[in-house]
Amino acid sequence: MVLRSLFLGVIVFFITSCSGPTIEKRVEYDANYVPDGELLFMNNCASCHGIDGKLGVSGALDLSQSTLTKKEVSTVILKGREGMPPFDYLFKDDRELDAVAEHILSLRK
Ligand code: HEC
Repeated sequence: MVLRSLFLGVIVFFITSCSGPTIEKRVEYDANYVPDGELLFMNNCASCHGIDGKLGVSGALDLSQSTLTKKEVSTVILKGREGMPPFDYLFKDDRELDAVAEHILSLRK
């Protein structure tokens, strides 16, 4: 019985390991990658907040008037708040979140 399930296991292993490309996706960590916070903001945030952060679509707060710390900004971006959807799915790694947060802070100047 034990031998038989072992045998089946080996068969299943061979069948699955021969079935072409795997679905699993791997993102290579590139130490030289510098994310473009402004671009990420344009593509994902400006529709509500506007390029300058002041647009205010569907209750979006004026980012140029925001008084949140960078850490608080990051939390709002990841988790969302009220009418703001969460964006945790968006970022490949922390550097992208950091770049967007930095860009938002720069809208205050
Ligand atoms: C669907 C519209 C929408 C999109 C897209 C959107 N936001 Fe917002 N955002 C809002 C709304 C609405 C609020 C106000 C939430 C509240 O009242 O608590 C908000 C609030 C914020 C705040 C808090 C400001 C403060 O001073 O409290 C930050 C920071 C922020 N958004 C950043 C972003 C970033 C970065 C993106 C893109 C990754 C983004 N938002 C995309 C609608 C949006």
